[in-house]
Amino acid sequence: MRIIKAKDYEDLSLKAANIIAAQITLKPQSVLGLATGSTPVGAYAHLVELCKKGELDFSEITSVNLDEYVGLKGDHPQSYRYFMNEHLFNHVNIDVSKTNVPCGTAADVDAECSRYDNLITSLGGIDLQLLGLGLDGHIGFNEPASYFAKGTHRVELDKSTLEANSRFFTSIDEVPKSAVTMGIGSIMQAKKVLLIVSGANKKSILEKTLYGEITPEVPASILQLHPDLTVIEAVD
Ligand code: GLP
Repeated sequence: MRIIKAKDYEDLSLKAANIIAAQITLKPQSVLGLATGSTPVGAYAHLVELCKKGELDFSEITSVNLDEYVGLKGDHPQSYRYFMNEHLFNHVNIDVSKTNVPCGTAADVDAECSRYDNLITSLGGIDLQLLGLGLDGHIGFNEPASYFAKGTHRVELDKSTLEANSRFFTSIDEVPKSAVTMGIGSIMQAKKVLLIVSGANKKSILEKTLYGEITPEVPASILQLHPDLTVIEAVD
C-alpha cells in the first residue's frame, strides 16, 4: 500500500487526477471504475481541464461506476448517472455508450446485478478503481455487514449514510433507502485501487481502514489486502 499525504483537498484532487491521467495515457483503452460523492469532484474537474487542453484522450475509455440509488432515474439530479454526466462525461470526449452505471430503476434488480457483474467480467475487469470512503467505512455502497459481499447486489443504506447523503436532498426522507452497488469482490479484483479521503471527520475511519482489523464491519478494511492500493489522504 502506498499512502500519499496531500496538503489539502486541492492537492489531493490534483494528485488523484494525475494518477488517473497517467493510467489513461499508459493504457488508452482502460476500464476505469469511477466513484461519486463530494471527494472525487475536484479530481474530475482537473481531468476535464486536461481533456479540454487536448492533453488527455478519453475516446477509447470504458467506465463502470460503483453504484446507484434504487428508484432514481438517470435524469434525476441526485442520481449517480446524472452526477457523472455533470461532473465528467458531458465535458470529456468519452463515448457515452461506453459509460456504465447500474440502473436504479430496473424492474428486476437481481437481473440488473447479474448483468452488471457479467459486464465487468466481459470487459476483462477494472484497470483502475477510484474509491471514496464513507463515514462508516463503506466503499461504493457496501455498508458494514457480517460478510463481504462478492458481486453486485442491492443494499439497504445505513442511517449514518442516509444522514450523510441527505445534504444533497431537500430532506432525509427523500434519500432513497436502498442502492445497487458493485460488490467487494469486483472492487478487490481491480488491477489498481485509488482511495481518496478528505476531511478531518474521516480521520478515524481512515485509521481503522488502513491499520485496523480486517472485518466486514469496516468494509474498506479489506483494501489492506489489495496488491496495488494507493491512498491519497487529506484528513489533518
Ligand atoms: C456515497 C457513495 C460512495 C462515496 C461516499 C463518500 O455514499 N456511494 O461511493 O465514497 O458517499 O462520499 P463523500 O466523498 O461525499 O464523503
